[in-house]
Amino acid sequence: MLNVRSSIILEHDGSVALIQLNRPGKLNALSNELIGAFMAALDDIELDRSIRAIVVTGVGRAFSAGADISEFQPEMEAGPAEAIAGFLRPGQRLTRRVESFPKPIIAAVNGLAFGGGCELVEATHMALAADTAIFSKAEIHLGIIPTFGGTQRLPRHVGRKAAIELILSGRRFPAGEAFRLGLVNRVVPADAVLAETMKLALELSEMPPLTISAALSAIHRGMDAAIDDGLAIEEAAFARIVPTSDAREGVAAFVEKRSPRFQGR
Ligand code: COA
Repeated sequence: MLNVRSSIILEHDGSVALIQLNRPGKLNALSNELIGAFMAALDDIELDRSIRAIVVTGVGRAFSAGADISEFQPEMEAGPAEAIAGFLRPGQRLTRRVESFPKPIIAAVNGLAFGGGCELVEATHMALAADTAIFSKAEIHLGIIPTFGGTQRLPRHVGRKAAIELILSGRRFPAGEAFRLGLVNRVVPADAVLAETMKLALELSEMPPLTISAALSAIHRGMDAAIDDGLAIEEAAFARIVPTSDAREGVAAFVEKRSPRFQGR
C-alpha cells in the first residue's frame, strides 16, 4: 500500500511500514504540515494490527535539516506564546509520540540530521546511520535552543557533558561519533542503510507484538523513574504478558524443543 500525504510518503507491504520524509528540496525540514502528516500516519499505523514495525527515513540527500526555519520565523517575531504554540509544541508532540509509540520505530539516517532531525533520531527506538550521515545540534547558530525535546533527551542518552558540548557548540559530528555516543545503534554503508534498517524492522516484526509493546512501554516509562518505581513498572508489564498466548507458546516451545509460532495474542 502506498499513501502519499504530500510531505511524507507512507508505504507498507506486509508487517513493516516505511515513512519517508518527503521535502527533499528543503532537506526534509519539519514543517507543521509534515509533522501533522507524520502524526496522522502514526495514528493509522497504531490501529493497523498487520503493521508491527516502522522505519523512518528521508527522501534525497538529507534525513532532516530540522524544524522549518522560514515557517517559525514569523512565530518567533510574534513572541514567546506564538512560538511555543506554533513551533515548539507540534515538534514536542511528534517526538513524544515517536518515543512512546507501542511499535518499534527505527530511523534509517540516510544523510544529514540537524536540529529537529537529530531530535527525531533521539526519539526513535533504534537508529542505523549511513556512514556518510552528519549530525548537528545546529540550533545555537540560530540563537535558539533545541525545542523538540533535545535539551532533555540528549543528556539522558549520551550523558550530560557530551550533550552540553554538542548543544552549546552546534558542531557537526559524523555517524561514527553518533555511534560511540549511543545515539545510533550501528553505522552501515550509505547504499545499504535503508535495506539494513528494513531487515532489522522485519526481524522485530516477527517477534510477539504484545511482548514487544510491553517491553517498549516498560523501558520508556522506567527511564525517568527511580529504580523501585521502574521495577514496579516492569512487574506490571510482565503481569500483562504472562496470560498472553504468545508468552505461553514461547515458553512451551522451548520446553518442547521446537520453534515458537507467535500469533499476536
Ligand atoms: N528550514 C527551512 N528550510 C531549510 C532548512 C530548515 N531547517 N534547512 C535547509 N532548508 C532549505 C534551504 O533554505 C534551501 O532552500 P532553497 O533552495 O529554497 O533556498 C534548501 O533547503 C537547501 O538547503 P541549502 O542550505 O541550500 O543546502 P546546503 O547543503 O548548502 O546546507 C545545511 C545544508 C543543513 C548546512 C543548511 O541548509 C542549514 O544550515 N540548514 C539549517 C539547519 C538548522 O539550523 N536546523 C535547525 C533548525 S531549528
